[in-house]
Amino acid sequence: MSARGIILAGGRGTRLYPATAVVSKQLLPVYDTPMVFHPLALLMRAGIREALLISTPEALPLFRMLLGDGERFGMRLAYAEQDAPRGIAEALIIAEPFLAGRGSVLVLGDNLFIGNATPKLLRRALLRRSGASVFAVEVDDPRSFGVVNLDVSGRVLGLEEKPALPRSNLAVTGLYVYDGDAPALARALAPSARGELEITDLNRAYLGRGALAVERLPIGEHWYDTGTPDSLLAASILVRRIEENTGRKLACLEAIACEQGWISRAAAQAAGRASPGSPYGRYLQTLPELPGLELGVGAGR
Ligand code: DAU
Repeated sequence: MSARGIILAGGRGTRLYPATAVVSKQLLPVYDTPMVFHPLALLMRAGIREALLISTPEALPLFRMLLGDGERFGMRLAYAEQDAPRGIAEALIIAEPFLAGRGSVLVLGDNLFIGNATPKLLRRALLRRSGASVFAVEVDDPRSFGVVNLDVSGRVLGLEEKPALPRSNLAVTGLYVYDGDAPALARALAPSARGELEITDLNRAYLGRGALAVERLPIGEHWYDTGTPDSLLAASILVRRIEENTGRKLACLEAIACEQGWISRAAAQAAGRASPGSPYGRYLQTLPELPGLELGVGAGR
C-alpha cells in the first residue's frame, strides 16, 4: 500500500495579520503561485498522487475552488475540516479514515522546500515503510522550532518543541513521514500546556519505540517556514531568482504532472491556454522539453 499525503493548511495566520484577515495564509502568493502549490509540488515530486488537504471550515471551499479534485495535475485530492487549531498532530487523527491504515507524508502548508534534495530524501524515507522520519536543517536560531539533538553517529538523543535553551541548532521542518500507526499514536497524546496535540510529542512517541529517523537537508537546500512577513518575502525573492536563473517554474503543478508522466504534454499546454495572460499560463503553453527539474545553478541564498 503506498503512502498518502496530508497537507495541513489551517490555523489563523496571526503573524501575518492583516494580510490573513480574510484570506488563508496558505493561499497567499509566494512570488507567482499560491503558497499551497509548494507543499503539493513536493508531494508530487516524491511520487505521491493521493492527498488530503485539511483546513478551516471557512478556507476549505477556497482550496477546493483552487485545486478541485486534482485531476488536472494528475492527483486525487480529498478535503477535510479542522474546526479549531488543536495541534498539528490532530491532522493524523482527522486523516485516519482517508489513510485507512496506510503510511503518510504530512507537510505543513506554509513550509517551502526549495532544491532537489528534499524530494529525493522523501522518496528514500518512504522506502522505510515502518517508523517515522523527520527532516532537519541547521538554523541560526532554532528556538521557534522543534529541535532535534543527535550524537556524533547521528543517533537521535532527544526532541524538544521550541526550547528556550536548544541543545543543537537542528530545526525539525514541517515535513514528516509516518507508518500506519501514527493516527493511533496521535489519539493517545495529551494536549500540551498550550492546549495543542504537539507533533513533537508524536515524534517523541516514535523515538521512544526506537523508530525515529532523522534526515538532514544538505547545505544549499532552502527551507522556509513562511509564517512571517519577512520569511514570506524572502521565499518569494528566492523563488523569483531561481526561476529567472533556470527558466523553470518551481511549483507549476501541471508541469510536474507532465514530468511524472501523469498527464500528457498536450493536457499541460491546454491548461496553460486557460490563463494566457499570466507567466504561469505562458510557461505551460511553451512547456520546455526538459528532463526532470534539476535546480542548483544560481540557487544560492
Ligand atoms: O515549521 C516547522 C515547525 O512547525 C516545527 O519546527 C515545529 O516543531 C512545529 O510545531 C511547527 O511549529 P510552528 O510554530 O510553525 O507551528 P504553528 O502552530 O505555527 O503551525 C504550523 C502550521 O500548521 C501553520 O501554517 C498553521 C497550521 N496549523 C497549526 C495548528 C497548530 C493547522 O493547520 N492546525 C493546527 O491545529
